[in-house]
Amino acid sequence: MRIDIITVLPELLKSPFEASILKRAIEKGLVEIHFHNLRDYSKGNYKQVDDYQFGGGAGMVLMVEPIDKCITQLKKERDYDEVIYMTPDGDTLNQAAANEISLKKNLIILCGHYKGVDQRVRDLFVTREISIGDYVLSGGELAAAVLCDSIIRLLPGVLNDETSALTDTFQDNLLAPPVYTRPSNYKGMEVPEILLSGDFPKIEQWREEQALERTTKKRPDLLR
Ligand code: ADE
Repeated sequence: MRIDIITVLPELLKSPFEASILKRAIEKGLVEIHFHNLRDYSKGNYKQVDDYQFGGGAGMVLMVEPIDKCITQLKKERDYDEVIYMTPDGDTLNQAAANEISLKKNLIILCGHYKGVDQRVRDLFVTREISIGDYVLSGGELAAAVLCDSIIRLLPGVLNDETSALTDTFQDNLLAPPVYTRPSNYKGMEVPEILLSGDFPKIEQWREEQALERTTKKRPDLLR
């Protein structure tokens, strides 16, 4: 998979890719991440990328021309499966969407800023609009990092234990069951005996029951 991220603030976005699982995925060659600073596609000495909105109103809007130049250049180099725009008015990200996007080969992710992008960018280029929740961030960068993490961890070979992404909360529309590690008794609090029994079919059954119980209690909406 290759992901091209277009942003006015690449420095806000780099560190998540420099640690842990995402770093390893890049080092293993399972994903390529390329950052494109929108200012490199702007005109003039001021490297202007945003302007006041027509009709008045507070907040700046990212201009269509630098974004057009950047996306057009990228599209000359390869075909893209999706041009994703991170925006609070997009479709809310969930596990099903992450699963689906993780199957794509080449993605462009566009990070909005200020009041967002000129509507013509959305009309011309964007194939999918994604929000990471009903709240407003200062820009799309942190949202893009969240999206990238959610899809990269699903790529084959990224997680050491191949099965572990399949048992995540939300796969199957269930929350994950409780987990424990050593010690088996901590200040009198015991680990459920079944987990120490070595009876794996029973353990599996217990986990399923716990997942269902947890989901019923905390997220009944997932069961509907
Ligand atoms: N940009 C600003 N807020 C956002 C959100 N909630 N999701 C995605 N992109 C955003």
